[in-house]
Formats: sequence, structure tokens, C-alpha cells
Amino acid sequence: MTTQTMAASAAHTTDLRKTYGSGAAQVKALDGVSLDLYAGQFTAIMGPSGSGKSTLMHCLAALDTPTAGEVVVDGVALATLKDKALTKLRRERIGFVFQAFNLVPTLTAEENILLPLTLAGRKPDPDWFELVVTTVGLGDRLGHRPSEMSGGQQQRVACARALISKPTIVFADEPTGNLDTISGGEVLGFLRRSVDEFDQTIVMVTHDAHAASYCDRVIFLADGRVVDELDSPDRDQILAHMTDLQEAALRRAGQAGALS
Ligand SMILES: Nc1ncnc2c1ncn2[C@@H]1O[C@H](COP(=O)(O)OP(=O)(O)OP(=O)(O)O)[C@@H](O)[C@H]1O
Ligand SMILES: [Mg+2]
Repeated sequence: MTTQTMAASAAHTTDLRKTYGSGAAQVKALDGVSLDLYAGQFTAIMGPSGSGKSTLMHCLAALDTPTAGEVVVDGVALATLKDKALTKLRRERIGFVFQAFNLVPTLTAEENILLPLTLAGRKPDPDWFELVVTTVGLGDRLGHRPSEMSGGQQQRVACARALISKPTIVFADEPTGNLDTISGGEVLGFLRRSVDEFDQTIVMVTHDAHAASYCDRVIFLADGRVVDELDSPDRDQILAHMTDLQEAALRRAGQAGALS
């Protein structure tokens, strides 16, 4: 038995489909995705632009509703929840980090980090707050507003905000997409530590093989489907795999062109 079959599932999808538009303009953003995301793992989702990565994350995080299929987070089927319960689940059990940090400009770093709890009318656990802030390395920046921080610092605030409610699972959509290598490394290091030291579960979309090499598992999407996955790959293995997938896609496109 592999470690993955023994690990608990933090979230899963069954035959997930998302279709945009209709008729000739119809786009199948997700075309039958069945996936288990394991607790205590750092998982990367990779794939070409338009392959459905963001759509998948949004459906998993209850920010979007699928056309068909099921999403289960922490044992709860999202489709069974009414609006209020869904908002509660999203607030308490799901964290989300966006590419564009999405901090509130008028709030300090500390206020931004605590925002999910403030909105829920909950008090922070001081020990956990301390631990998250120390790990994220922002102890001396807590009074700063986003405009007074670098991109990497802002994204680390966004990561701390995603973790503050101790969610079951954190979804991060290209969290290092807007960062230089050093700031990106800081954010990836923090995400890795939160998996290793706090037993967090993180799913991250990335285009970058180096970023994906921080992960325990890499899942590849193409045309709205899971086409492959790798366990604990290094950067070169990921790059080689991406090249193979791209060549296969080009061959398919070539065959389709020859047939038409
Ligand atoms: N709101 C929408 N309306 C219509 N089509 C959409 C919408 N959102 C996404 N799509 C389409 O669905 C497909 C998947 O989009 P998605 O944003 O999930 O891709 P992605 O893998 O995240 O791409 P990228 O790497 O560029 O961020 C694309 O063809 C996109 O054009
Ligand atoms: Mg995207």
C-alpha cells in the first residue's frame, strides 16, 4: 500500500464537470475530474493555460458551482449545503490564496490576517496566531499596510490569513505567479513548513516546475481532465513530464488538423 492510499482524503471530486456557454461557444472547462486530495500533503496542480486549473480550485473551494459531479470537502458534499452553511464551511474549513494577493489596502497586516475570524465573529487563538506570524516571518511588519510591504511580504500575509482559521485545506492559485524568485521562495518555504510542521493540507496551482518541486505530489491537467501525476518529483522530472505532455498535445492537434 502506498502512503497515499493510507492517507485520509481532505477533499475529493467525482466526475466533476463545468461547462461555460452553450452551442458552438460551449467550453468544457472541467470534463470529468475525479481526484482525491490527501490530508497533510502539499499537492501541485499543473497544466497548460486554459486547462481548467482555476476552475477546479474554485469548484473545490466553493467559490464556483460545478455543472455536474460532486465535490466533498472534509467529508461534506458541497452540493448538499444551503448558502449559509456553505459560507460557514468556506470560512472555517477552507483557506484561499490568490495570485493577486487580495489584501484589504486600508487594513494593517495583522488586521488582514485576522479578517476571516473578525468576519466570523471569532477570537484568534493567541498561540496559533503567534506561531503563524513567526513562521511567516512577519513579526515586525504587523502594523504595516499592504502598500508598505513588498510583494513577497504581502503574499505571506495572504498565506497567514488563509491559515489563521486552521482550515482543513488551503487552495492557492498561482501564489507565486506575481513574485520574483526570492519572494516566491519565501512563500513556497512557508507553505512547505505549514505542511511539515502544522500538518496543513495545501493544493497549489503553478506553472513553475521549481515551485511544484516543493510539493509531495503533482497532478497534471489538460483540456479539463487529469492526465497524469507524479509523486515527490524533482524539477527536472517535472520539466521532462511537461515537455512530454506538450508534445502529446501538439501531436493530437496535428492529427486533428490532418483529419479536418
Ligand atoms: N467565466 C467564464 N466564462 C467562460 N469561459 C470561461 C470562464 N472561466 C473560464 N473559462 C474557460 O474555461 C477554460 C478553463 O479556464 P481556467 O481559468 O480554469 O484555466 P486555467 O488552467 O486556470 O488557465 P491559466 O493557466 O491561464 O490560469 C478556459 O478555456 C477558459 O477560457
Ligand atoms: Mg488560472
